[in-house]
Amino acid sequence: MTDTLQISKFLHGGDYNPEQWIDNSEIINRDFTLFKQSKINTFTIGIFSWAKIEPKEGVYDFEWLDNIFDRVEQQNGNIILATPSGARPRWMSEKYPEVLRTNEQGQKLLFGERHNHCLSSPVYRAKTKSINYQLAKRYGHRKSLILWHISNELGGDCHCELCQEKFREWMKNKYKTIDNLNRLYWSSFWSHQYNNWDDIHSPSTLGDTTSLILNLDWKRFVTDQTIDVFENEVKPLREVTPNIPVTTNFMGGNPPESSIFMDLDYQKFSKHVDVISWDSYPNWSNDYETTETLAMKTALMNDVMRGLKHDSYLIMESTPSQVNWHPFNKSKRPGMHEMGSLQQIAHGANSVLYFQLHQSRGSSEMFHGAVVTHSLSNRTRVFKDVSLVGKDLEKLQPLLKSKYTHTKIAIVFDYDNVWALDDARNYSDQTKKYWHTIQSHYSVFWQNNIPVDIISAQDDLSPYTLVIDPMHFMMDIEYMEKIEKYVSSGGNLVGTYMTGMVDKNYLAYLGGWPERLQRIYGLSYVETDTLYPKQTNTIIWEDNEYKVIDYADVFEQKNATSLAYYEDDFYAQSPALTKNDLGSGTAMMIAGRTEKAFLNKFYSKLIDKYSLRDSQIPFENADAHLSVQVRQDERQKYYFITNYTDNKQISLFKDSYTEMLSGNSLNGSTTLEPYQVIVATKD
Ligand code: GAL
Repeated sequence: MTDTLQISKFLHGGDYNPEQWIDNSEIINRDFTLFKQSKINTFTIGIFSWAKIEPKEGVYDFEWLDNIFDRVEQQNGNIILATPSGARPRWMSEKYPEVLRTNEQGQKLLFGERHNHCLSSPVYRAKTKSINYQLAKRYGHRKSLILWHISNELGGDCHCELCQEKFREWMKNKYKTIDNLNRLYWSSFWSHQYNNWDDIHSPSTLGDTTSLILNLDWKRFVTDQTIDVFENEVKPLREVTPNIPVTTNFMGGNPPESSIFMDLDYQKFSKHVDVISWDSYPNWSNDYETTETLAMKTALMNDVMRGLKHDSYLIMESTPSQVNWHPFNKSKRPGMHEMGSLQQIAHGANSVLYFQLHQSRGSSEMFHGAVVTHSLSNRTRVFKDVSLVGKDLEKLQPLLKSKYTHTKIAIVFDYDNVWALDDARNYSDQTKKYWHTIQSHYSVFWQNNIPVDIISAQDDLSPYTLVIDPMHFMMDIEYMEKIEKYVSSGGNLVGTYMTGMVDKNYLAYLGGWPERLQRIYGLSYVETDTLYPKQTNTIIWEDNEYKVIDYADVFEQKNATSLAYYEDDFYAQSPALTKNDLGSGTAMMIAGRTEKAFLNKFYSKLIDKYSLRDSQIPFENADAHLSVQVRQDERQKYYFITNYTDNKQISLFKDSYTEMLSGNSLNGSTTLEPYQVIVATKD
C-alpha cells in the first residue's frame, strides 16, 4: 500500500467537519492552533458536506473548502478528500424521490439519517459522478491531497423496483436460463418454481426468506452492486487524478462479538480499492472481558484488514476517547488511548485517524469523543492523550516503510461461508458462533506471540506451513482441489466440524461427503450431534480429558489415524481427533467443538512440531503476559511490546535494545506498567 499511497509520515488526524462552523472563523482559527499542538497532520474532509458544497441543484459553493485546503497546506498537512455521497442534500430527495432507499418490505424511506441511498438509482449515480468531477477538477492539483475517500461506510441494501430489475439482470447473467435457475434453486420445494425472470424478487419477510440460495445470491448481488456504486464514483476521479489513490472506509462489527462487518464481501471489494482503510472502535474497559481478550479480538480484526491486500493499511476512524453508540459509552482509562493506537501500528497500520477532530455542537454525535471538545481547550485528558500519540508517531517515523510480514500460519475466512452458515437451518442459532470460533483458534497464537494471516479461500496457500480452516461449511470442489494440492505437497491443514456440507449453490453434496474431502482427511462424515448448552461429551487426548461442547461431528475412519475418540453417547469410540498423511503433508480434523484448553494444547504441539515460533520474542521470560508484534524492514525488526493486563509485567531482555518512544536503553529487567507499550530495536 505504501507504494500506492505516497506518505512521508504516519498519518495522524481524522474526520473534520468545518462546515458545521462555517460562520465562526474564531473556532476554525483555534482548531488549527490546537491541531498543530497535538501533531495532527491529516484531515479527512467533505464526508457529509454535500448540502454545503451544492446548496441548490447545480449551484456550488467551494469557497469554504478552498479555505480549508489553504489552512491545511499552511501547516503542511495532508488531506483525505471524501466524496459527499454518505449523506445527500434535502433538495435531491425532494426532486428525485428515486434516490431514497426502499426497505425489504417495500416501504420507501423518508429523507433523513445517512448512508441510505438507492444502489441503482440512475439519478443518484449521475449526481455523485458529477459532484466528484467537480471535486477532482477543483482539488486534484492541490499538493495536500493524498487520498480519495469514497462516500462513507458503504453498506445496506435497497429493495426498490430499480434494484429488483438489477437483481434480475444479475440472476440472468449468472443462471442463463430459467430451467437452470429452477434446477439450482431447488425450486420445486414448496412449489416455488420460477416461470420467468420477472418472478425474481429479493428476499423479504413479506415474501420469501426460505430459499437459502436466494438469500445468499442477494448478499452476493448487494456486494456487487455496492462495488458498482463505488466504481461509478471512482470513474471521474481516476480520469482527472489518475495518481491519487482511492479508498473507502470498511467497518468492524459491534461489540461484544467484535467481528468485522459481515454484510459485504470485503475480500471481493478489496480488489477495487487502492488502499485498505477501516474504522476501529474497540470498547476498551468493558465489564465482560479482560483487556487482554479485547486486545486479542482487535488484533484479529487488524489482521483481517491487513490480509485483504496482504499489505499495510490505514485506520480511517477510531475514537480518541469514548463513542456514543456502544451499549455503555465508557471513557478510556489512562494509558489506553496510546495502547490502542499503537496496537494498530504494530499490526501494520500506517495511520491513527480519529472520528472526530472537532466535536459537533448539536445533534446525535454531540457527545462522541473528539480531539477538540466543547471545552475548546488543550487541557483536556483527551487532548493530552492525542498529543502523546502524535509525538509517538513522530518518534516511530523510522519504521514507516516497515511491514508486518513473517507469518507461517493462515486462518481461512470466506464470506460465502459466513453467510451460508449463518442462514443454515440446522445446528443451533444460539451456538453456531462462527466468529467466536475463529477467535478461539486465533487466540492461541496471539497468546504465544505468533503472527497469523487471515486469508480468503482464493488466496495462495503455499506460503504457509499451517493452514487452519474452521467450520468451512460451504465449500466448492475447486477449493477442495486446492487444499488437496496444498497438503500433498507438504502443507499442514487443520479442519473442524461442519466442514464441506454444501456447494456454492447451497446444494447438499449427494452420496455423502465429497470424495476429495474423504481423501484429504482420511474420513467419511456420518452425522452431526448438536448439543444443548448443558450437555457435553468428552475426549481424552494424551492422558488429558477435554469437554466437547455444542457440536460433535461423527466420522468413520478410513485412512486417517485417530488420536482421540469421543467417550460418551452413541458415538463413543468414534474418532474425535484425527490425522491423515497425504503426500508429504498432513490433514488433521478436530471433529467436535472443544474447550479452549484443548486448542491450547493441540496448537502448542503443532507450534513445536513445525517450528512455528520464530524469534519473535526478544526477552527470556516468554511466558510474561506481554504481547509482541513485529514490524520489519530490510534493516531491522521493530518489536511492539504491550502490557494489556491491569498489573505490572516484567520482561527480561536477552540483549541490549533501544526503546524508541523514550530513547532509553533496555537490557535485563524492564517493568511495563498496565497498558504500557514500548517499541524496541536491537542495538
Ligand atoms: C462511524 C462513522 C462516523 C461516525 C462514527 C462514530 O461508523 O463512519 O461518521 O458516525 O462512526 O463512532
